[in-house]
This record gives sequence, structure tokens and C-alpha cells, in this order.
Amino acid sequence: MQIINPHFILMSDKITSNLAVAFDKTIKKIAPLEVLTKEFPHAKVTNLKENSLLMPGLINAHVHIEFSANKTELSYGDFMSWLYSVIENREELINGCELGCMKKAIDSMLANGITTFGAVSSHGMDLEACVHAPQNVVFFNELIGSQATMADALFTDFLARLDASKSIKREGFYPAVAIHSPYSVHPILIKKAIDIVKNENLKLTAHFMESEAERNWLDNSDGDFKDFFENLLKQKYTVSDSKEFLEYFNGSNALLTHVVKANEDELQVLAQNKHTVIHCPISNRLLGNGVLDLNKLDEKNIRWIVATDGLSSNYKLDLFEEMKIALFMQSDAPLLELANKLIRSVTIDAANALGINTGEIREGKNADMLVIDLDKEPNEELALHLILHKYNISSIYINGKLIQ
Ligand code: BEZ
Ligand code: FE2
Repeated sequence: MQIINPHFILMSDKITSNLAVAFDKTIKKIAPLEVLTKEFPHAKVTNLKENSLLMPGLINAHVHIEFSANKTELSYGDFMSWLYSVIENREELINGCELGCMKKAIDSMLANGITTFGAVSSHGMDLEACVHAPQNVVFFNELIGSQATMADALFTDFLARLDASKSIKREGFYPAVAIHSPYSVHPILIKKAIDIVKNENLKLTAHFMESEAERNWLDNSDGDFKDFFENLLKQKYTVSDSKEFLEYFNGSNALLTHVVKANEDELQVLAQNKHTVIHCPISNRLLGNGVLDLNKLDEKNIRWIVATDGLSSNYKLDLFEEMKIALFMQSDAPLLELANKLIRSVTIDAANALGINTGEIREGKNADMLVIDLDKEPNEELALHLILHKYNISSIYINGKLIQ
């Protein structure tokens, strides 16, 4: 047992002072230091310095570790140009990111206070790096392929990757499933994968309604994807429309990434099924996909969380940066209210969306905690200050262990 004695704690609904936290893997008790030392007389006590803030570790629910080699290779500004550049540079990017490159990306997330991440794995080449990561990892094995003729081979490969991730037995590692998107995965594959998700109670994610090209292709088998599918995949029509696609996800409490171009009916389905939207504002901006209407999601009571996406569509893996960009992109939203929602989105809301027992400094939760060095006593605008100033992170605890 350990006791940590910060000056302030960021609880989900308030900032407290004069409370300490007793924890091992989980948070056992939050009370004044004297109470805890009496109850746990053998615990190691860490007294933190003036203006220290204990807050939950951050959760990045959507990242592509395998694509961490990109810095200047991919084309930004327009979704289709970016996609063509991904296809053109795919081998080089994947082969250019070996264990050291992936470890660097993971370490950079840790340095930025990310104690849990959701890795969308296209090839399973990031499995080793993720297994050895200090963070909690939800490892989303991704299924992709819209050609029926390829379905068997692709599903066999997917199953092998899923099985490899299921064989990992380490604290804080959760195998899971990603369906790439409605336009890129054949319904045969989607159904088979979702059967496994339901039988084995796994977490499920997908990219959904990211671009105008996706909207037009799913609605009319037309638009910017027309040439792409005809030339590269010899397909004249979409494999499913968005309504069919979402029907497969009913009852799965999935995490759907981007959702920028979703229409009213689709948002209704998301609300009814309690899916979570993953908002990646930097990726949306860099690929020319526009701005997600967070207000509309709030109106419909759809949970949304913020994530970085991969370095294939971002310049860093930093949720403080991501929240700051979200804060400025949502320029009509009430500032402090949005800042508070953003902090919640990368802590308790992301934990709930991923179904893991963390994201909050509360008794019973896993002890995933950051010590932040504020420069003075926090006030009621703390959420905004955390986002704007990116204070030094002096210690990081994951599952009760001091990592940094
Ligand atoms: C496919 O494999 O069918 C696919 C991949 C990326 C974009 C679109 C389709
Ligand atoms: Fe993504």
C-alpha cells in the first residue's frame, strides 16, 4: 500500500484540497493524510510539493501505432489525396516503423500523460510494442477488405491476429476488434467479426462517416471514391450503405471514429445504441474533413471523446494538444464548459466507452494517476488552464506503479 499526498485532487466534479490517496493497484481510500496513516500505518507516504495536482491519467482511445513513421511522407489537405498517398507509401511507412519507432510513439504518449491507449492494429506488427508498453492497451485488431473473393483469406489473417492478442496475459491488456469502415469491409466479414465480438464480449470500434467521399459513395456509389473503387478494386457499387452498416453494430456499444459527415438518422441510431463518437480534430483538419458538430452530439446525448488518431494524420500524440485544437475549432462553444467536457472526455468518459475501470480519482478505480505541477492554487477555470498551459507532469502511476 502507498499513500500519495498532493495539494489538490481533480475529482470528476470538484477540486479538493487536504485529501490524500491510499492505493495499491486500485485506489483504496481518499481521506485526510492523518486518517490514512492511521488506517495504513505501514504504507509508504509520498508528500508532494506546493501546488501539486493529482489527476487521472489520460486515455487516447484511437491511435495507429504501426503508422508512426510518417512525418512528411503523406499528403495533407484533402481526404482522397491523403488516402492515395497512404496507399503509395504504405510499404515504406510500415517497413519504416520497426519496434524502436513504435516504442518512441508509445513513450511520447506516456510523456504526455497518456496512461491508456486504444491501438488500432492493421497488421499486428505493433503487438509486441503494445504488449511491452507501460500503459493499459485496448488492442483493436482491424479487419479490412471489401472484395468478397478475398474474404476467406482476410478473415483467416484477422483471426490469427486476434488469437495472438488473446494469448497475451498481462495486466491492463485487452484484445478487441476494429472494422475499418463501412466502405472498406465486406458485410460477410463484418457479420463474422461482430459474432465474435458479441460471443466474447470484446470492445468494437470502426471509422465512420469521416469524409464527403465516404458519404457520397455510401449514399450513391458516386463521388470521389468512384474512380478509386473502379480502378483499384474493380467495384462499381458500395458493399453496404450506412444504415445496413450501423445495423450490424446494434447492441455492441461501439466506438465510432470521426462521424463528421453523419446525418440526423445516423446520429439517432448512434444515440439509441449508446455508441460513443471518437473525435480527432487534428486529423479532421489535416485531411480536409471539416468540423464535428459536438453541440449536436450533446443535444442527442451521444457520448463523445477526444483522441489523436495516428501519426499518419497528426504531428504528435498528445491529448493536451488535441484538446486545445478542439477548443479552438469549436469556436462558438462556451469556453469553460467545453474545457470541462474535454477533460472529462479523455478521462472518465473514455474509460467508460472502453469499458475499463479507470479515468477517475475515486475509491475502487485503478490507480492510473498523473501528478501535475501547477504554478499556483487552482481556481474554477482549472480545466481551461490545464488545456492552455500544459503544465509539467512530474510523476505518472499506472495500476498503482510509479512509471515515471
Ligand atoms: C479495401 O481493402 O477494400 C479498401 C481499403 C481502403 C479503402 C477502401 C477499400
Ligand atoms: Fe484512424
